[in-house]
Amino acid sequence: MTLIETVKEWRAWRKAAGKVIFVPTMGALHEGHATLVREARKMAGKEAQVAASIFVNPLQFGPNEDFDRYPRTLEADLTLCREAGADVVFAPAVKEVYHEDRSVQISENSLSKVLCGASRPGHFDGVCTVVAKLFNLVQPDEAVFGKKDYQQLAIIRRLVRDLNFPVEIHGVETVRESDGLAMSSRNRYLSAAERAQAPALRAALVKAREAWQSGVTGSRKLLEIIHQHLADHASLGRKDYISVVDRHSLQPLEIVKNDGLIALAVFFDKARLIDNVELLK
Ligand code: PAJ
Repeated sequence: MTLIETVKEWRAWRKAAGKVIFVPTMGALHEGHATLVREARKMAGKEAQVAASIFVNPLQFGPNEDFDRYPRTLEADLTLCREAGADVVFAPAVKEVYHEDRSVQISENSLSKVLCGASRPGHFDGVCTVVAKLFNLVQPDEAVFGKKDYQQLAIIRRLVRDLNFPVEIHGVETVRESDGLAMSSRNRYLSAAERAQAPALRAALVKAREAWQSGVTGSRKLLEIIHQHLADHASLGRKDYISVVDRHSLQPLEIVKNDGLIALAVFFDKARLIDNVELLK
């Protein structure tokens, strides 16, 4: 596996490569990311190349967020990428990616206003900008994203559609700990007591999905089930949002017939956790 840290070397690599499947990440990699790389490897087969990027993107962190203390674990990340089947890792420094006087960026004005976007202004514009730049650098044929960040996946699909990026986007199911907690680099910020309560997020969503499957289609009732479960099992968490939305437009639904999504974000002391469940027939 090759490690490339400059744009110049990357361009040279890309010119010589054929079909590329791309997995963008911010590092601090865990089994969730490894699964994306393994899925990319399966899609690539022997002919295509699997490229991963590791770049903690300053543009997507708010002023009070954890850019400086975001975990940076490059050596372990490279081992994980190699073992999961990547052919090349692009891990540029911030100054390789952004010019100091940069003045062009992407803004998304619909899907990014709700859910996580409502409490993180500018976050998804930062994501769109870096993903557009990475797509221009990597020039992938296909790219793989996790459903754990469902809003991000929906926004990337919109970015690709609206700006005609010639990239096929794949969404991969959320990878979880054995107790159901979605894997996240931010789980390490949880105290022992919070960690013990965190699986309640998933359990609450599953409970609501089961209710939906047995005929409860009203959002009010579905939300009530989740609120009650969290009140009983996650007293240390403070709700950011819990929403029932259309899984493509991310707009609120009163009744879920099909293609619904329940998404939530809960603050613990030092970590904000997100999770979601699709309501699909
Ligand atoms: P990061 O948080 O490192 O996540 C990289 C990819 O891994 C994303 O597509 C995310 O959805 C996926 N992922 C994370 N945890 C997962 C889990 N438990 N199961 C399945 N997939 C999981 O998302 C970003 O980085 C950035 O915003 C990025 C797209 C790289 C742009 O900077």
